[in-house]
Amino acid sequence: MVNHRGSSHNHMRTASTAKFISRKQSPRAIAVYIFLLFAFSIFIFVFNAGNIVEDHPAPVISIQSHPQTKFLQTADDELWDAPSRHGLRPCIKPTSRYKAAHGSDRYLTVKSNGGLNQMRTGISDMVAVAYIMNATLVIPQLDRRSFWQDSSIFSDIFDELHFITTLQGNVRIVRELPKELELVPRARKHFTSWSSMGYYKEMMQLWNDHQVIHVAKSDSRLANNDLPLDIQRLRCRALYHALHFSPPIESLGKKLVDRLRMRSGKYIALHLRYEKDMLAFTGCTSGLTDAESEELRIMRENTKHWKVKDINSTEQRIGGFCPLTPKEVGIFLQAIGYPPSTLIYVASGEIYGGDARLSELMSFFPNLVFKEKLATKEELNAFAKHASQSAALDYIVSLESDVFVPSYSGNMARAVEGHRRFLGHRKTITPDRKGLVRLFDELESGQLRETSSFSDLVQQMHKNRQGAPRKRKGPSPGIKGKARFRTEESFYENPYPECICSSKVV
Ligand SMILES: *[C@@H]1O[C@H](CO)[C@@H](O)[C@H](O)[C@H]1NC(C)=O
Ligand SMILES: *[C@@H]1O[C@H](CO)[C@@H](O)[C@H](O)[C@H]1NC(C)=O
Repeated sequence: MVNHRGSSHNHMRTASTAKFISRKQSPRAIAVYIFLLFAFSIFIFVFNAGNIVEDHPAPVISIQSHPQTKFLQTADDELWDAPSRHGLRPCIKPTSRYKAAHGSDRYLTVKSNGGLNQMRTGISDMVAVAYIMNATLVIPQLDRRSFWQDSSIFSDIFDELHFITTLQGNVRIVRELPKELELVPRARKHFTSWSSMGYYKEMMQLWNDHQVIHVAKSDSRLANNDLPLDIQRLRCRALYHALHFSPPIESLGKKLVDRLRMRSGKYIALHLRYEKDMLAFTGCTSGLTDAESEELRIMRENTKHWKVKDINSTEQRIGGFCPLTPKEVGIFLQAIGYPPSTLIYVASGEIYGGDARLSELMSFFPNLVFKEKLATKEELNAFAKHASQSAALDYIVSLESDVFVPSYSGNMARAVEGHRRFLGHRKTITPDRKGLVRLFDELESGQLRETSSFSDLVQQMHKNRQGAPRKRKGPSPGIKGKARFRTEESFYENPYPECICSSKVV
């Protein structure tokens, strides 16, 4: 996850040129080489400026000149400004090769599984699958059985009419299966995860015997990479243009954003994924009481679809696989340089450990707000019993924030980060959890002090983790077969380059 590539290259280049120069003696030769080096650097600079593939280092924050104060005065624009987008823009128009789809009398019914964002990206993939398979898509059924236990139907969460009309000419979408097809036997399929275009073309054989295919799960059914450009752009049109939240959610979401802006102008949205299910699933118990750890262990034991039961919490944490605790988030944001007065919107469900645990963050940043504090009881009533609808409000406020900070890399974090990249590389600071845990432990054991040297290390570590333009990462090297798909960066986490282009291209 960490992007060290750029900086280590620079180090190597400097070292090898230094050796090169030291072999030459004549002053004139040195002058010539210096000139050549200079010209070469300019060339490299121009060349790189045209091929932005990595985060660009932010200016190094100079801390040497500061006294040993606890709060560094990091410049305001460094804290709040988005990274340079280098003229990149969203590009989702079909290419000239794109064939508009016409109506089809073959139908795809879908059961969309998972939490809000897993469903959103799954539904967008199903739009692409319906297009590839030349099918009419029936508005998907939503998961009611996940941890969130939400009984919402599609039109409660999404703007159904907008979804249907926006995708006209791409895929025909209907609200319900025609009456006469309700009772015909369907082909019931669990499509293979991360499948290619070829797989779905093959699946079209099912049409020989069936008029309706039922897809039992919608998450991660389509590959992240190696799909035609037009399929990738269709996924972006589906997610970013067609799949809007329902009008009541959009409207309250906007009000919450306005109220935050009225309070202080700028705000951080913190996705604090410190909820019971996440801690039980990851087996992270650092900072919890024995009773709490035991409660989580029992929940994990009893949740059938979580396959890993025996987890060493210490190893999880050292590996960077745990969500940051509220206290760790406080230390982290302070080290980055945000002043204690910073307004922080906390996007989350119920925090495990409640107010007692939140107070550990509040002691660093007293200006914490939740939707429950921003909206009236009446406004929230309609959403109260619907976890997915509340999550949609959090999504809107997070998307619009000046800075987005996810404490864990789950579906919501990935979806928000990708959407922010798409809209113009808005600032997203992704904590390097593995690196931070190491520093926190040094701090704890007294090897480091909570002063500028600690801050400097944290800032250095996150210089290239602020959401600047870079291409989506492929699979981890050395991993073969299907397992490599799991290690790829998700398409919706970073739709660059397919749906983000330089202005010249479009
Ligand atoms: C799509 O399906 C319809 C019938 O449902 C058929 O008439 C049409 O030829 C198909 N198009 C392609 C490209 O297979
Ligand atoms: C968990 O892992 C740590 C570090 O590898 C080790 O020191 C510890 O003994 C392990 N705990 C258990 C209960 O296995």
